[in-house]
Amino acid sequence: MKAVGLTRYLPITDPESLRDVDLPSPKAHGRDLLVRIEAISVNPVDAKIRRSKGPDHQEAFPQVLGWDAAGVVEAIGNEVRMFQPGDAVYYSGSIGRPGCNSEYHLVDERIVAHKPISWSMAQSAALPLTVITAYEALFERMGIAKDGRSEGQVLLIIGGAGGVGSIAIQFAKLVQLLVIATASRVESESWCRQMGADAVIDHSQPMLPQLQRLGYPTVDYILNTSQTDQHWSDMAEAVKPQGHICGIVDTMQSIDLNVLKRKSATFSWEFMFTRSMYQTDDMVEQHKLLTQVAHWVDSGMLQPTLTQTLSPINAANLKIAHAKIESGRMIGKLVLTGWSS
Ligand SMILES: NC(=O)c1ccc[n+]([C@@H]2O[C@H](COP(=O)([O-])OP(=O)(O)OC[C@H]3O[C@@H](n4cnc5c(N)ncnc54)[C@H](OP(=O)(O)O)[C@@H]3O)[C@@H](O)[C@H]2O)c1
Repeated sequence: MKAVGLTRYLPITDPESLRDVDLPSPKAHGRDLLVRIEAISVNPVDAKIRRSKGPDHQEAFPQVLGWDAAGVVEAIGNEVRMFQPGDAVYYSGSIGRPGCNSEYHLVDERIVAHKPISWSMAQSAALPLTVITAYEALFERMGIAKDGRSEGQVLLIIGGAGGVGSIAIQFAKLVQLLVIATASRVESESWCRQMGADAVIDHSQPMLPQLQRLGYPTVDYILNTSQTDQHWSDMAEAVKPQGHICGIVDTMQSIDLNVLKRKSATFSWEFMFTRSMYQTDDMVEQHKLLTQVAHWVDSGMLQPTLTQTLSPINAANLKIAHAKIESGRMIGKLVLTGWSS
């Protein structure tokens, strides 16, 4: 089968950073689905792993990246209960297994859902990784209520126009929160408003005076999609007593948790690969949340986050996608579709 892989961990400008390779097709066993991949998206994690071991590390076999997929179930393992061949599905997959940048891909059914019926493969492939992250961060880690009980509470989303921010804004508006997003450019500000943000402030400028001018010097919840330490002191200042901050990006230096003590404020990590990485007992929750989100899509309650499509899926187009992700200036999501014949 066709795939895009790496054997060395190189800058994306190096012609060898990602290569078109031919690999044996895998076989489905146990709870695995074998999925024929039709569309994939690219996330910052792909670029982080592509650089992770440094240029001198040599892999014996091509490593395949990619953790956002939409496609059709080709075959199922003997313990699969929720899917059949022919089902159209979407999922992120597990960081502990080969990624989805290949014509055929194995994934555990417990972290897969039927894709939204009303959206294309490309629109669906833009969703899973960011959906799982935003859903778990808002509704599970921070405990925002999905039944309207959190109505009117204020959420600050730092980095509102990126992949995670674009869907987090929409989830928060679905449950009637007041959403303040951050963006540093005219086009990213406008995208945040299009996604539903009630107000937008600029993260390249001091944020506290901007929150004060808006009339919200403190907020109930903060989701930070950018570096945790960079915005730490502002977040500690801006979170309400008994409020909640959720981080999704590693700190570059240690942070002082004591600053939250007086306020009895909570800090949570969200890592969307935790359930698949540790095979937690509640791993199937990711199947359930992706199913819930597909239902929201098909009920017209969400709008696509897809902003750019490249075709076909190959090393040349994946290099373009990685370079764009590494610029730190993504708006919404970039997707690759189809395989050349
Ligand atoms: N823990 C997890 O499970 C998890 C899951 C998904 C993603 N992540 C991580 O979360 C981060 C965001 O992911 P993503 O997919 O949303 O990335 P993305 O789409 O590449 O994010 C791009 C956005 O980041 C904003 N941004 C750039 N510098 C910023 C800064 N200093 N402060 C605030 N915002 C800034 C940009 O806004 P402007 O252009 O307006 O500046 C841009 O719109 C990545 O590091 C990713 O690896 C973690």
